[in-house]
Amino acid sequence: MKQIYILGLVGSPRKGKNTDSLVQSALDGAKDAGAKTTKIYLNDLKIKPCQACIKHPSPKYCIYNDGMTKLYRLFESVDGIILGTPAYYETISSQTKLMIDRCNCLTKIKKNQTGKLNFLRRIKKPKRGVFIWVSDCSTNVKPALASIKFWCLDVNLKLVKTLIMIRSERKDNRKDKLLSEAYQAGKNLVLFSPQSQSSV
Ligand SMILES: Cc1cc2nc3c(=O)[nH]c(=O)nc-3n(C[C@H](O)[C@H](O)[C@H](O)COP(=O)(O)O)c2cc1C
Repeated sequence: MKQIYILGLVGSPRKGKNTDSLVQSALDGAKDAGAKTTKIYLNDLKIKPCQACIKHPSPKYCIYNDGMTKLYRLFESVDGIILGTPAYYETISSQTKLMIDRCNCLTKIKKNQTGKLNFLRRIKKPKRGVFIWVSDCSTNVKPALASIKFWCLDVNLKLVKTLIMIRSERKDNRKDKLLSEAYQAGKNLVLFSPQSQSSV
């Protein structure tokens, strides 16, 4: 049986803090369920902001060759993604948004004969994902989820779990409970992956 591969993306620049620990806990769960895991700090990658160049980069995913090149390759090969981001200005961190904008060319838009727009997915591998959102006082995850869900279409990811930590900087942030929920979510990504199911 092919080993399941889970990617963790940390959208916070603060290593070892809330977002990072929750992503790590989900990766630990995935690893304990038998997966290979990799964690990437988006803040460590050199990613040029999308230049809206309009030139379709096909067969490449982008005309630029930078930190995203590695991510595009992973989006083609992993079975699951755990993406964690802090709430910045009620939405997501700039590190996360930078990565998301550079996924715009992962979908090709084609007009059919009647003028209707068709969205053709270029990342063929279907994946399952967990989204982790960490905020201090904001409680409405919807604005963040709006862009995450749109990104999921581009990377061919089905969100199966959203985990939210609020009051992140306070003592009553329920960190221990959320860490174990994240661990279980990572484990479930592997246990309920179509690959694991088909080999049972
Ligand atoms: C630039 C910036 C903007 C922020 N905006 C918000 C916000 O809109 N709502 C909120 O609840 N917390 C906000 N925060 C606080 C962070 O979401 C919070 O500290 C979170 O724990 C950061 O995640 P981390 O601990 O994983 O780094 C902001 C922090 C920064 C640095």
